[in-house]
Amino acid sequence: MKSRICIIGAGPSGITTLKNLKDKNLEVVVYDRNQDVGGNWIFSEDISHSSVFETTHIISSKTLSQYEDFTFDDFDRTVADYPSHDELRGYFQAYAKHFDIYPYIEFGTTVKYCKRVNDRKWEITILQKGKERKEEFTDLVVCNGHHSVPRIPKYIGEFTGEFLHSHVYKKAAPFANKKVLVIGGGNSACDVAVETSRVSEKTAISWRRGYRIIPKFFFGLPSDIIGARSAWLPVKIRSWFNDKLLGIMLGKNKLYGLPEVKTKFGETHPTINDELLYKIRHGKVHPKVDIEKLDGKTVYFKDGTKEDYDVIIACTGYVLKHSFFDSSFIDYSNGPVPLYLKMFHEEFHNLFFVGMFQPLGCIWPGSELQSKVLANYLTGDWKMPSNIKKLCLREITHPHYKQINTPRHTITVDYHKFRRSLLKQLPKNWISKTSNNISKNAS
Ligand SMILES: Cc1cc2nc3c(=O)[nH]c(=O)nc-3n(C[C@H](O)[C@H](O)[C@H](O)COP(=O)(O)OP(=O)(O)OC[C@H]3O[C@@H](n4cnc5c(N)ncnc54)[C@H](O)[C@@H]3O)c2cc1C
Ligand SMILES: NC(=O)c1ccc[n+]([C@@H]2O[C@H](COP(=O)([O-])OP(=O)(O)OC[C@H]3O[C@@H](n4cnc5c(N)ncnc54)[C@H](OP(=O)(O)O)[C@@H]3O)[C@@H](O)[C@H]2O)c1
Repeated sequence: MKSRICIIGAGPSGITTLKNLKDKNLEVVVYDRNQDVGGNWIFSEDISHSSVFETTHIISSKTLSQYEDFTFDDFDRTVADYPSHDELRGYFQAYAKHFDIYPYIEFGTTVKYCKRVNDRKWEITILQKGKERKEEFTDLVVCNGHHSVPRIPKYIGEFTGEFLHSHVYKKAAPFANKKVLVIGGGNSACDVAVETSRVSEKTAISWRRGYRIIPKFFFGLPSDIIGARSAWLPVKIRSWFNDKLLGIMLGKNKLYGLPEVKTKFGETHPTINDELLYKIRHGKVHPKVDIEKLDGKTVYFKDGTKEDYDVIIACTGYVLKHSFFDSSFIDYSNGPVPLYLKMFHEEFHNLFFVGMFQPLGCIWPGSELQSKVLANYLTGDWKMPSNIKKLCLREITHPHYKQINTPRHTITVDYHKFRRSLLKQLPKNWISKTSNNISKNAS
């Protein structure tokens, strides 16, 4: 059978995969249950869709959050350092228009089930306009994202107020004049706490451990730009340096009433926020420790205090889920994830993952490079290493950061190190933008 490749998802990872596979004249079909490209970055109040919040701005700077083949300057030179979700949606859609890839995407189409028949055949069951259909492909590329299936925490007792996950949170307005408790120390929790504190009667944030809060700017420059200047140093030295710098800039967490940080930089996914500490010191967000139990509207905390709330918003992250596979075939929900370059499976050589990694930075520049390596593999221009099994195992035994053992930390990569590993697999002329007329199509 002639190669025919299926991509699941037309988010930031799926569109760059499609573009790079089409560049090699491969036959590709993309299925996405949404109605346009952009994935998480299409803001929607529809709770079935995993979208960013009304006020979300990206946490990495535009310089380190762009495709090399279509940069922010190619899109709109006026975009600020940290673009809004709507600017990013526009950027992804401009990318798709510019490279003319819309005709290969079937929107409103959910991939229900993927059956690997053999090394050259997949049977994909899709749901389109209410009807199920089976399609055959030689290869399958999974770009379904990893921030859409909420991880719901369990507690002793029952909360009789409103309990929701950040997946369902879209904007602060519904929480006006309410007593809100936000759970978590990640980027969602800190964003949500800051936003609800603008309208709520009271907002508290519960952390089960201490986190460093990284400001968006250092010395007048985006923090990741400053970080990139030391990217040549080993991760351990960089982490030590970052810890020192943050300590000098912000002081210890106890000054803000927050749990002390007991981990080194990078041992937890970084939380980047310029407003949380400000809001705490202005009495708008109240720090609390981990939850002991729930009873009616009362929350009991592990430090012996208790308080009443109308709403709990659990910003407790997402589960790595592939509902279209039998769990006996692929189940990475609890880790480990033994994929070479976070994309190649040791045994199934017609199954690939793009974007299924968590950088300390932005995802899609890495997806762009992964998909270029994949395109070369599919055309025979890049050979899978003969020691693939060993390399897959190495991904687990030699992580870039030795992170704490919690469910969100199974696919972490260092942005710069990961990028270097991918670039090593590519020829020097890997940027393909010059072959296109950018000014003609970018709008
Ligand atoms: C509130 C919030 C803020 C974020 N902020 C940042 C940030 O600042 N920086 C950053 O790098 N990342 C951020 N992220 C993570 C975000 O997931 C990535 O930025 C990016 O969207 C990843 O792109 P992706 O294409 O891999 O996945 P997604 O954007 O999730 O796209 C996956 C696509 O696959 C489709 N799909 C999934 N399953 C199926 C199926 N079975 N059938 C058909 N289609 C399917 C979806 O409809 C979607 O269009 C944030 C996430 C959230 C929720
Ligand atoms: N651009 C933006 O502004 C923005 C906004 C939101 C999200 N994001 C991105 O989206 C992704 C998801 O972020 P996220 O914040 O939703 O999830 P996350 O990074 O997985 O963070 C989840 C937080 O909840 C905690 N947690 C998990 N289970 C818990 C439990 N049972 N009890 C108490 N605490 C618990 C985690 O603690 P541990 O430390 O113990 O794991 C962690 O602090 C990340 O890549 C993030 O960078 C970006």
